[in-house]
Amino acid sequence: MLATETKRVSVVKSKKLFQRCGSLIGLLILFACGDQAPSAPAGDKPLVIAHRGASGYLPEHTIAAKAMAFAQGADYIEQDLVMTRDDEIVVLHDHHLDTVTNVAKLFPDRAREDGRYYVIDFTLGEIRQLAVSERFGVRNGEVSAIFPRRFPLNQSTFKVNTFAEEIELIQGLNRSTGKSVGIYAEIKSPAFHREEGKDISAAVLGVLKTYGYVHAGDKVFLQCFDPYELVRIRQELMPAMSMDVQLVQLIGYGEEFAPLLTTDGIQQVAAYAAGIGPSMHLLVDPDSDADDLQVSDLVRMAHAAGLKVHPYTFRRESDQIPPYAKDLEDLLDIFVNRVGVDGVFTDFPDRVVKFLATNP
Ligand code: G3P
Ligand code: CA
Repeated sequence: MLATETKRVSVVKSKKLFQRCGSLIGLLILFACGDQAPSAPAGDKPLVIAHRGASGYLPEHTIAAKAMAFAQGADYIEQDLVMTRDDEIVVLHDHHLDTVTNVAKLFPDRAREDGRYYVIDFTLGEIRQLAVSERFGVRNGEVSAIFPRRFPLNQSTFKVNTFAEEIELIQGLNRSTGKSVGIYAEIKSPAFHREEGKDISAAVLGVLKTYGYVHAGDKVFLQCFDPYELVRIRQELMPAMSMDVQLVQLIGYGEEFAPLLTTDGIQQVAAYAAGIGPSMHLLVDPDSDADDLQVSDLVRMAHAAGLKVHPYTFRRESDQIPPYAKDLEDLLDIFVNRVGVDGVFTDFPDRVVKFLATNP
């Protein structure tokens, strides 16, 4: 198990970092040919999980992005969840506000010593005043979009929404369309919230229960990078609330996750979770050649333990495609037909829906 709360490491084509994690990956590369990899069980079409909504087209986690993901045919729509000062659960990727909102402009005096603006320092009423934009970075005072070809920065009007509001949107659309799209919620930074005096997991479970997500068969997955928190949810919180929803262990591309990536570690995960959500780079070595794909043993181990495998994150931008794949569709072909995953997190649900429709 992990010694500290997990740290997500974003890696795209990062040979350096992969080499740093060489010992970890070495454990996983038990065979070299993708054709030997197990397939997902026959008849189970891989799930299309809209990562932060249709975030390739609209600012992440906005209601507009969620509605677009629904219309594009996603099976599940993802929410990253953090808590406000007044104990509301809001849908934001980070427990900071400064990379997707104008908080620095509206509340210039509310940054902590590290210069960051923390969701937990603001009430929902204050957060409602903020304008949400495409994700941006600031360097030497210059603001630039993380994904320059996506929705323009600071255009149109978007707001932060609560978890309850987003569930109401999805349930409303399910009713008006006759569909049954699920929710795929992530508890962010539970240890940080606990240090701040908040039990985010109990609060998230409370919202889920209010909206009827209670049993293992209900259309919800609850994900977290922190295995200790997932064990606590499985062993303490859910029994106390008479709940039994499916849990997903997220696994980042970093050395701290190595203990999970063994037969024993995966079997421990299977004791509390229904699936794993690994970085795609844990399934296929990003330094692979197209004609010599290095596929890890993780999918086989997970399937042997009865776990579903939902890797992240599938994007269309060329700098987000590992060098062994030509484009998003080629990458999907590798992961669906050769690696044998059970679903994918994607910023572009329409592209994955189309791929699966044309590659049954
Ligand atoms: O939850 C799956 C995936 O979203 C994990 O990465 O950082 O985008 O939440 P992140
Ligand atoms: Ca997430």
